Amino acid sequence: MNRAPLIFLGVFAALAFSWAGLVLAPQIQIGGQGQKLVQGGDTLYPARRSGMAQQGAAVYVSLGCVYCHSQQVQPREWGYDNARGWGKRRSVAQDYLFDEPVQLGARRVGPDLSNVGLRFTNETFFLEFLYNPQMHHPGSTMPPFPFLFDRRRIGKTPSPDALKLPQQFAPEAGYEVVPKSGARKLAAYLVSLQSEAPLFEAPWPKAKRTNAPPAALDTNAPPGTATNAAPATNASAAAATNAPTK
Ligand code: HEC
Repeated sequence: MNRAPLIFLGVFAALAFSWAGLVLAPQIQIGGQGQKLVQGGDTLYPARRSGMAQQGAAVYVSLGCVYCHSQQVQPREWGYDNARGWGKRRSVAQDYLFDEPVQLGARRVGPDLSNVGLRFTNETFFLEFLYNPQMHHPGSTMPPFPFLFDRRRIGKTPSPDALKLPQQFAPEAGYEVVPKSGARKLAAYLVSLQSEAPLFEAPWPKAKRTNAPPAALDTNAPPGTATNAAPATNASAAAATNAPTK
């Protein structure tokens, strides 16, 4: 008996099924995503980046920031990104609509940058940080990127764009440090990294209703130990009980 047609059909069906599962289904689910109205229906999310910020994305890619920085807020069950202050909600496909290529990152030598534009909102901070991270975070292991800046002799008048550096980071007298266009684009891109808008598929976590005083900080400590509340009694922990300690 000739089984060739049967084998052919079997192989065809197997390939067709995997294609449908791996290509077609994701395409139907997220392939047609577009901007959505959020926040009371008056803002489109994600916002398109400005031209400067878009070019900054290319600088980000070219400098390999992705080797040390991720751009994905992990859900709470998998880590504590929320507690670290990296984002109010997990990242979803919608967040990356205008990213090409997407800079997810796999390693976290430094903090996640998905929402860095909400943590630091002005470009000056980013310019100074790129020029020398030590200025803002002494002891930082982030490498400086001085080649993004021009160190040049001050002309008739100092450049209005020159960084205002504290004494120990400033160049010698008569010189100034001016960001090149790459630095300014990169800073614009970093400010544009804001992906916290609440979405249907990723709403902000609801605050738990409790009568207990709010814990000051979300920490990794097991529940019960993490509180800044003053002890209910002035007695020391050991004295508070009469039970023999042994
Ligand atoms: C070798 C690893 C490494 C590379 C490459 C790197 N960074 Fe960092 N970055 C770090 C570390 C570590 C920190 C945390 C430093 C600190 O806070 O002291 C950091 C912090 C930052 C911060 C501050 C974030 C925050 O929340 O405090 C920004 C912004 C940043 N990096 C941007 C960049 C950009 C843009 C690039 C590419 C041009 C880049 N980094 C490349 C390691 C790196």
